[in-house]
Amino acid sequence: MAHPTESVSLQDKNYFLMRRLHSLLGLVPVGAFLCVHLLTNSTVLAPGVAGGEFQKSVERIHALGPLLVPVEIVFIFLPLLFHSLLGFQIVFNSESNAQQYRYGGNIRYMLQRTTGILAFVFIFYHIWQMHWFGKPLGGGAFELHDAAGAATGAMTTAVAIQQAWWIAPVYAIGVLSCVFHLANGLWTSLITWGITIRPSSQRTAGYVCAAFGIILAIAGMGALTGFYNYDVKSPPPVVGDGHASATSQGL
Ligand code: HEM
Ligand code: HEM
Repeated sequence: MAHPTESVSLQDKNYFLMRRLHSLLGLVPVGAFLCVHLLTNSTVLAPGVAGGEFQKSVERIHALGPLLVPVEIVFIFLPLLFHSLLGFQIVFNSESNAQQYRYGGNIRYMLQRTTGILAFVFIFYHIWQMHWFGKPLGGGAFELHDAAGAATGAMTTAVAIQQAWWIAPVYAIGVLSCVFHLANGLWTSLITWGITIRPSSQRTAGYVCAAFGIILAIAGMGALTGFYNYDVKSPPPVVGDGHASATSQGL
């Protein structure tokens, strides 16, 4: 039988590994997905036929065909779920020292947790609203093609975002929360992984992460503006052979 101190240290070791996994999954694949997703969405602003570039970008992802759903589950949903569950455990079980000290670091520490919760609520709503998983519950607005095979990716996304006055502000809060959470999380993860140890390297990393966050926020808010202003009555762009693929109809 294990000695009590051995089992405690085993618990500590497991918790340490879980925290490392939480950090890693926040960066890859979840953080990487957020970057690719916001950049893909920002192609709605590309010059030329309205929504044409966005349609092409999403078609490239849907070209995974029957592999799309397993890839989404393994590389997006499960890592996000693990990161979120442990994230909630950290938020509700650790002491916040933000009230005790007035340093910027403690405000960011509190903001990291608050934006994690906001990100969770937003992502939940967003997946219900856009992804075909939400269809049984009245969501799943996004359609890559209509029944006739016309390209409707940008149009259906824009309709969902323009449906009510409060949706765009909710998206703005959701996007900015996710971006702050990732950029600040990138900075803290460099400390977690022992990459930035000295205060001077942490300061330099701070500038780099802030610049990264600002660029990603511009991409995300640009995408949102593009869909918000998208003329939903404009004719659908003609992309590829104009035929709907098996996955484009929500499988
Ligand atoms: C957009 C999706 C998300 C991304 C890209 C993301 C990314 C990250 C990253 C990179 C870190 C830094 C890890 C470190 O310091 O080593 C982090 C920390 C954290 N995340 Fe997330 N995360 C996301 C969603 C969430 C959600 C939904 C929650 C749920 C509450 C959450 C809760 C947390 C918490 C509490 C921390 C701080 C952990 C600590 O203090 O050590 N995150 N996240
Ligand atoms: C301008 C803001 C955004 C727009 C216009 C947007 C648009 C979309 C659309 C149209 C889909 C459905 C794609 C499909 O079914 O193929 C989708 C899915 C998804 N979005 Fe967003 N999104 C935005 C921001 C975000 C943010 C900030 C996150 C945070 C992580 C996020 C996470 C997801 C996830 C996890 C999915 C499901 C996986 C997937 O289908 O790729 N989105 N989004």
